[in-house]
Amino acid sequence: MALRHFLTLKDLTRDELQSLIRSAIRLKADHKAGRAGKPLDGKVLGMIFEKSSTRTRVSFEAGMAQLGGSAIFLSPDDTQLGRGEPLEDTARVLSRMVDFVMIRTFEHEKLLRFAEYATVPVINALTDGFHPCQLLADIQTFVEHRGDMAGKVVAWVGDGNNMANSYINAAAMLDFQLQMACPKGYEPDPVLVEKHRKRVSLGTDPLIAVKGADLVVTDTWASMGQEEEKAERLQTFAGYQVNHEMMARARNNALFMHCLPAYRGLEVSDELMEDPRYSVIWDEAENRLHAQKALLLFLLEQLEQ
Ligand code: CP
Ligand code: NVA
Repeated sequence: MALRHFLTLKDLTRDELQSLIRSAIRLKADHKAGRAGKPLDGKVLGMIFEKSSTRTRVSFEAGMAQLGGSAIFLSPDDTQLGRGEPLEDTARVLSRMVDFVMIRTFEHEKLLRFAEYATVPVINALTDGFHPCQLLADIQTFVEHRGDMAGKVVAWVGDGNNMANSYINAAAMLDFQLQMACPKGYEPDPVLVEKHRKRVSLGTDPLIAVKGADLVVTDTWASMGQEEEKAERLQTFAGYQVNHEMMARARNNALFMHCLPAYRGLEVSDELMEDPRYSVIWDEAENRLHAQKALLLFLLEQLEQ
């Protein structure tokens, strides 16, 4: 039995990541052809959400149901977590009852602590540090539209947040160049940037970052938990909006992605969101479902080995 967690992309080897993406693409085709089996019959996923969610909740819950299992939504408002029961205790109790736990929380350290005490696979469904499930969907989407990411150029424009950090991990694992533009003071994790200097360049000018890009990615300027900084951030990030003018500096057939939810007129223009020549955001959102099904099956397979 090999207990594996998925706390960042780096919990997978390169080969495992690539094979997981292939499996996600297969599961998508099977699902659409009505060929899917029920390999998670009787399995249960516990889903702890300390922050809001549309895509993550629905994709995990629908994915479990489609594979024959079920999911339980747990929020701090109506569990003992919100009344101070320690994470370490919750991790051990849930591990006795469910087959996987998915957590969306604030500090990445909390997720690490939970995983240390859990005896079932733990999945990072977003922390302040990383959002690796979203990267699985983004990679799947790129591969479906443009093939292998190795040697390609990806531009990150905007906040150096959880998604930005996750893109750095992906660049290191899949050998693409990541050109990042973030305002001063809003850079991604400096340790990660330094560690992957060969793959990552970081500046403040979005027009430099998007030059030659095969994919341009952005995200909200104020992530969950940063609501109070929003007004200040709107001023700082002015000039970082991804729009047609910016896409014109990228490669001719460049794609645009955004993990959503998007704030139109801020980090991305309404017109670009709706332009299918660039924008693959709906495929990207859908692929959360398929990629996470592949992830659940992978973690279960590891357990059974
Ligand atoms: N992209 C993403 O994780 O969306 P939700 O916050 O809706 O889950
Ligand atoms: N960076 C955003 C992603 C939302 C899916 C946040 O953390 O709020």
